[in-house]
Amino acid sequence: MLLSIPSFIFKVFSTTFLVWIVLSTAIPQLLSKYTDKEIQSNHFQKTNYPYNSLTSPTPLPIQNSTVYFIIGHPDDEVMFFSPSLIELAKAKHQNNVKLICFSTGDSVDESFGGIRSAELINSARILGLPSENITILDKFKDGMNITWDSNDIRETLKELIGTGPQKEPVVLITFDEKGVSNHPNHISLYVGTVNYFKTYFKNNKDVTLFVLKSLTFWEKYSFTFLSSVELFVDHVSKLFFSNFFKIDINISFFTKSSLPNTNAIKFYSDLNMLSVSYAAMCYGHYSQMVWFRYGWIILSRYLTFNHLIQIT
Ligand SMILES: *[C@@H]1O[C@H](CO)[C@@H](O)[C@H](O)[C@H]1NC(C)=O
Ligand SMILES: *[C@@H]1O[C@H](CO)[C@@H](O)[C@H](O)[C@H]1NC(C)=O
Ligand SMILES: *[C@@H]1O[C@H](CO)[C@@H](O)[C@H](O)[C@H]1NC(C)=O
Ligand SMILES: *[C@@H]1O[C@H](CO)[C@@H](O)[C@H](O)[C@H]1NC(C)=O
Repeated sequence: MLLSIPSFIFKVFSTTFLVWIVLSTAIPQLLSKYTDKEIQSNHFQKTNYPYNSLTSPTPLPIQNSTVYFIIGHPDDEVMFFSPSLIELAKAKHQNNVKLICFSTGDSVDESFGGIRSAELINSARILGLPSENITILDKFKDGMNITWDSNDIRETLKELIGTGPQKEPVVLITFDEKGVSNHPNHISLYVGTVNYFKTYFKNNKDVTLFVLKSLTFWEKYSFTFLSSVELFVDHVSKLFFSNFFKIDINISFFTKSSLPNTNAIKFYSDLNMLSVSYAAMCYGHYSQMVWFRYGWIILSRYLTFNHLIQIT
């Protein structure tokens, strides 16, 4: 009797995971085998192999851009942003992806700063970013009870990114006003980045700001269940609309109109991207892998799904 509850949870969990693998990975790969001319003929024009994307809208509105991920601590890039970070860094989108981390993650002890900074470089390398694309700042102190000054953040971003015309479109990505878990450092980054954006780029169409939508408790720990429902509806609706001949998955569940909607973007990982996230977290950020983190990374929806909302 007592054992039947854990075994029920385990069954639900593993079924959800298997269904998700089929929907997010097996079906898209199979479809591209039958629809992509290059894959069929084994002859390629470019040096990057055609890779599926599970985004809404499709194609991804952020391409040929410089993308800045603005995070608070080493490991935020995997724990919260890995689906969008891995997707945006895929070679086919031709983005130039940078990471700005505002603290060294030394809340427990000063000596952690050096360890966690080195871990961030390792993790980013696993996620696809070379070390020269990473900036780690030591000016802001990591802590659950510390609010960072908004003008300080604005001026820091000004120094790193500038205020003038940019060579190519610039996209800023950070936390939203709830900061995933009401973490004051994350919320400070939201306030400070909005401050920077509104002060210097108010009428500049080449610079856009997106924030990561914080999930509610049940959604946050829903693992791949909700993504499976969404992807399932998408696959079924696509069969009906006979939109069969595309490599990029077009998630019709959300975008009723076929017009690209740049006000919000949803990113879904497939099994390959999720494996990279596990590697970056468990191997890259080894010092952070206390026992409960294993449960967290297995259940968290952030590792397979990001919902970015544009701020105007
Ligand atoms: C999404 O699919 C619809 C058909 O269902 C198509 O008309 C539309 O062009 C697609 N959108 C994009 C951006 O590919
Ligand atoms: C990105 O730039 C390439 C040329 O380098 C161009 O072919 C492509 O259409 C551009 N993509 C977008 C979405 O602007
Ligand atoms: C890293 O930065 C370099 C130089 O700005 C850029 O050319 C490259 O595309 C970036 N790498 C990624 C994966 O975005
Ligand atoms: C923040 O909390 C730590 C202990 O968790 C305490 O030592 C420190 O004094 C607090 N800082 C502030 C500014 O309240």
